[in-house]
Amino acid sequence: MRARIAEKAEAWGARPAVLVHPAAVVGTRVRISPGAVVCGGAQISTNVRLGRHAHVNPGAIIGHDSVLEDFVSVNPGAIVSGEVTVGARTLIGAGATVLQGLSVGEGATVGASACVTKNVAAGSVMVGVPARVVGSSITS
Ligand SMILES: CC(C)(COP(=O)(O)OP(=O)(O)OC[C@H]1O[C@@H](n2cnc3c(N)ncnc32)[C@H](O)[C@@H]1OP(=O)(O)O)[C@@H](O)C(=O)NCCC(=O)NCCS
Repeated sequence: MRARIAEKAEAWGARPAVLVHPAAVVGTRVRISPGAVVCGGAQISTNVRLGRHAHVNPGAIIGHDSVLEDFVSVNPGAIVSGEVTVGARTLIGAGATVLQGLSVGEGATVGASACVTKNVAAGSVMVGVPARVVGSSITS
């Protein structure tokens, strides 16, 4: 949905802003693409790339050397550990954790409070601790 709206708005000439709340903590060598939003209380470590229109919600933490591709949402209190790649349009639910070094495929959904311990295939819906596939994503 967000991708469709952004595409239309940009086709009409809109130029998306980068919004970083003053109460967010953003480390060094963080590249933030147009349309990305970093909310208050979010923490982003070093050498991180946020894709276009990626959202890092309140209290979410993004570890070092991670990449959030375009239109990723990391919901409140979620933790994306270091050296993780999160594919485009993926949703990481509130309070979920993705362990270090993993890859989350595009269009996946990680349910609230899940703990992702293995790579996630594109379009999967994962819930639980440890996270297991329970279906296909509504966001893919
Ligand atoms: C995983 C998720 C996408 C599934 O949504 P859904 O397809 O609408 O699923 P439903 O609510 O119909 O639940 C289906 C089943 O999964 C279970 N379930 C749903 N979310 C779950 C979760 N996060 N962890 C464990 N089980 C979950 C439900 O209890 C239900 O089980 P049942 O069939 O035994 O009754 C969603 O529940 C979720 O966690 N979204 C993230 C929410 C979030 O981050 N909110 C913060 C917004 S700021």
